[in-house]
Amino acid sequence: MENNTQQKRSSFTGKIGFVLAAAGSAVGLGNIWRFPYLAAKYGGGIFLLVYVLLAVTFGFVLMLAEIAIGRKTGKSAIGAFAALDKRFSFVGWLAAAVPIIILPYYSVIGGWVMKYIFGYATGEGSEMAKDTYFTGYLGEVGEPLIWFGIFVLLTAVVVFFGVEKGIEKVSKVMMPVLIIFMLFIIVYSLCTMDGIWEGVLYYITPDFSNFSIMTVVTAMGQLFYSMSLAMGIMITFGSYMKKDISIEKSIHQIEIFDSGVAFLSGLLIVPAVFATSGGSAEALGKGPSLMFVTLPKIFETMPGGSIVGAVFFAMVFLAAITSSISLMETIISIVMDKTKLSRRVSCLIVFGIILLFGIPSSLGFNVWSEVLFFGKLSFLDFFDFISNSIMMPIVAIITCIFVGFFIKPKAILDEAALKPKSFWGRMFDIVIRFVAPIFLVAILVTSVLEVFGVIVI
Ligand code: TRP
Repeated sequence: MENNTQQKRSSFTGKIGFVLAAAGSAVGLGNIWRFPYLAAKYGGGIFLLVYVLLAVTFGFVLMLAEIAIGRKTGKSAIGAFAALDKRFSFVGWLAAAVPIIILPYYSVIGGWVMKYIFGYATGEGSEMAKDTYFTGYLGEVGEPLIWFGIFVLLTAVVVFFGVEKGIEKVSKVMMPVLIIFMLFIIVYSLCTMDGIWEGVLYYITPDFSNFSIMTVVTAMGQLFYSMSLAMGIMITFGSYMKKDISIEKSIHQIEIFDSGVAFLSGLLIVPAVFATSGGSAEALGKGPSLMFVTLPKIFETMPGGSIVGAVFFAMVFLAAITSSISLMETIISIVMDKTKLSRRVSCLIVFGIILLFGIPSSLGFNVWSEVLFFGKLSFLDFFDFISNSIMMPIVAIITCIFVGFFIKPKAILDEAALKPKSFWGRMFDIVIRFVAPIFLVAILVTSVLEVFGVIVI
């Protein structure tokens, strides 16, 4: 079996192929939906600053470790850890469990996006610009569930018939279009909205009085999520990477691309929230619904706003579905490897599981809105918390310790052809052995204590 997969393991062609594929999987709802609401809630410019600092240090180091582990072993997460050290194969399993938790709630958001495309296409734009529209919609039981189901079904159909390549091609073309489109909407709102510049200032100037430990905790979780780290994905990508391609350069490019899209999404959404709400803490702290509440207000004032809205959400949908496809692929390949079931049967099973697991996240906004984990987290927030704030940090901590003290940093630096004495080489060594593990443990402990209400921050 292992031999078989080895033979089938193809490589990305060309220098840019790897970067595009990895960036394509990394750019998704994490950048467009999650980043802006966290940036708005956790301090604006200070969140941005902390995020960038973490990306160039922790993000770089972890991505380097994962890609190099993958390329060195030629295997995906579970096999890769086992190949390097049998005692660590459990990390591969832990990492592999993350997509199973993420995909169901990711699809619930995907469903919201589809609803919005449909809403604009059927001329409901003005309705959608009202403050109460989104909460009203979430309060309904049936419709969000149906859109969620359609989103999972579309993802499963693509994977079932193996037509990912087609979708990827479309998304590669659409990604630059999305960026240009965003720039266009940003310029429009900067030129027309009252009070928008105050919002821009809030978003880009770090104000240390807005800093709290939660800024760091959430920025770190977001970094993992957005760059698809600490869940074995980059190990798998590395296993397909050719030996003559520079890992270091590729990582810089992926990071710039991923953070660039996140930054633009933030610039699109955060200042507009400010302008339409006068910067009230309540509006900024809206959380997961922020994008859905804010954007329709901009589109409403635009000439041809319905078309702009429909096209915009269609592009967000494309970014979301390429990510959900690769999340589902990951889960299916694990099921296939471990059960020896065929691809299609595995696909049907995974489809059923995701459908089942996603239902609570959707119902958590209506019939089960009374169910609050730790007294405050809805189902969706709870799954998001478990994966981003608990499991991913744990996987990241063990990966750092594994690389730092078992296979040793040099093994990774050699694979990446980085000199131990170079700037990035030195940074890798220090961060992976000391800074990252200590920092990550502190973050993990803080977020657990916070959610249990032991500390208030
Ligand atoms: N990074 C993706 C985003 O920003 C989400 C994601 C997390 C993902 N893990 C993944 C995508 C694994 C593909 C594969 O939306």
